[in-house]
Amino acid sequence: MNNITFLIKKICCIGAGYVGGPTMSVIAENCPDINVTLVDLDEKKINDWNNSDLNKLPVYEPGLKNLVEKNRNINLFFTTNLNQSISEADIVFISVNTPTKTNGLGSGYASDLKWVESSARTVAKYASGHTIIVEKSTVPVRTAELIKSILSSSCNISEGNNSKTFSVLSSPEFLAEGTAIKDLENPDRVLIGGEDEYAIEQLSLLYQKWIPKNKIFITNVWSSELSKLTANAFLAQRISSINAMSALCEPTGADIKEVSRAIGADSRIGTKFLNAGPGFGGSCFQKDLLNMIYLSRFYGLEEVANYWEQVILLNEWQKKRISKLIIETFYGTVSLKKIGVLGFAFKSNTNDTRESPSISIVNELLENGASVVIHDPKVSEKQISKFFDNEKIGQSNSNFEGRWRYTSDLNLLFKDADAIIILTEWEDYLHIKWKIMSKLMRKPSWLFDTRGIVEEEKLNGSNINFWRVGKGFIKTT
Ligand code: NAD
Ligand code: UGA
Repeated sequence: MNNITFLIKKICCIGAGYVGGPTMSVIAENCPDINVTLVDLDEKKINDWNNSDLNKLPVYEPGLKNLVEKNRNINLFFTTNLNQSISEADIVFISVNTPTKTNGLGSGYASDLKWVESSARTVAKYASGHTIIVEKSTVPVRTAELIKSILSSSCNISEGNNSKTFSVLSSPEFLAEGTAIKDLENPDRVLIGGEDEYAIEQLSLLYQKWIPKNKIFITNVWSSELSKLTANAFLAQRISSINAMSALCEPTGADIKEVSRAIGADSRIGTKFLNAGPGFGGSCFQKDLLNMIYLSRFYGLEEVANYWEQVILLNEWQKKRISKLIIETFYGTVSLKKIGVLGFAFKSNTNDTRESPSISIVNELLENGASVVIHDPKVSEKQISKFFDNEKIGQSNSNFEGRWRYTSDLNLLFKDADAIIILTEWEDYLHIKWKIMSKLMRKPSWLFDTRGIVEEEKLNGSNINFWRVGKGFIKTT
């Protein structure tokens, strides 16, 4: 692979979501000589990316606003015009959604590849010259083959047909929401899976504009696709492991924070991903685990499938045990109780609510008749309303049994509340003055900290009863 000239001038990314948006913004920032265009079928999303009010961008990520502000309409473009962007592109990234199938073969487990497939068909139709296709979406092993077969129906793949040729590479994304820009600027590694040396070298040279060469791993396509699923499975497994131990800490008098610290100091275990919580959320861990379980069963590996399935079952159990514990604390009756929920995003520093543990925990409380008031610094009322059948009600109505309301005002959330539940670890919640805010609450008042972010001393002088994940009931009056 010597002396290959870098020939990429135009990049198109299909899918302007949580991966496409931040990833292309970082490429545009680091490659001023390359034109980067994001295309999406969703016109509203594209309008939001082009909104002059940068607070209205469809994705909230620390640092993203600055990159968009700096590069938009210079070498970073957002459009619904797929045809033109694809036909001009040297590289097309596919960053579309790959959710779990909800019907048909593999329903409830396999990933739905219809958006990947339709992207490949669009590329096949509009591409011109030689185009490198990069799978950025997380896909089941051997999806590249599906893409190749669609493309090959429109021409030869990288085999000298002079009008249209393609190379297909896998380069899965490992960014985490909330730290996406940092992760993209300084990744632990990037993978390039493929066979075509020219295409691999072009993509590698693109990454080398800001990523050291020793962090770029070249693998075969299937290893690259499977590494992505494996990484997410390992991360999710760590969370279910620590959550399982949080449940064991609570009745035994151990403290999960002390246990995490003790085991994390072992360099073979390491300190990351050892925070107990209300269960993992986000659009990917469950979906990718389900996909891996499906693949394992497909290859007749029932024990492997069962092993990974436990990670999901434990996660579901963690969410349920927390809502049950809250309801039982009120002797089984939360109707006519006002419960303030702090945080609805699946983690802090994102506006993403997909698979957020808050959804099922709040739903359980509503089904039991609680009056729930929700606050989140970045998630809108409209976004939250997608998850609940129960109608939300206005601020003036004080009787809202079994229904929910949104507020951006913490004083309103605390006023007359019987309990506060912390569900997302937003920094804002670290600064709550519990002694002052507790005066607004109805007695006896409760704090359930499912993220373990409140230090016990912060409650001094407050009279709030306190439960913390992995420690249990710390203070009861
Ligand atoms: P997303 O839903 O935020 O964005 C996907 C976008 O693709 C949507 O805006 C959708 O309208 C668009 N789209 C779908 N089909 C299209 C088509 N044919 N033409 C044009 N646009 C189309 O999804 P996401 O969170 O960005 O995830 C994308 C992929 O990346 C998934 O496979 C996911 O597993 C993977 N991934 C996600 C993350 C993450 O943190 N969200 C991290 C790593 C990998
Ligand atoms: C995760 C992976 O971390 C990324 O590497 C991967 O690219 C991405 O999935 C993906 O494929 O979509 P993300 O879901 O954005 O990223 O966020 P994480 O930081 O992994 O958190 C996932 C969930 O686990 C959140 O609900 C979070 O609160 C929870 N979590 C995380 C814990 O409960 N405890 C921890 O110690 C860490």
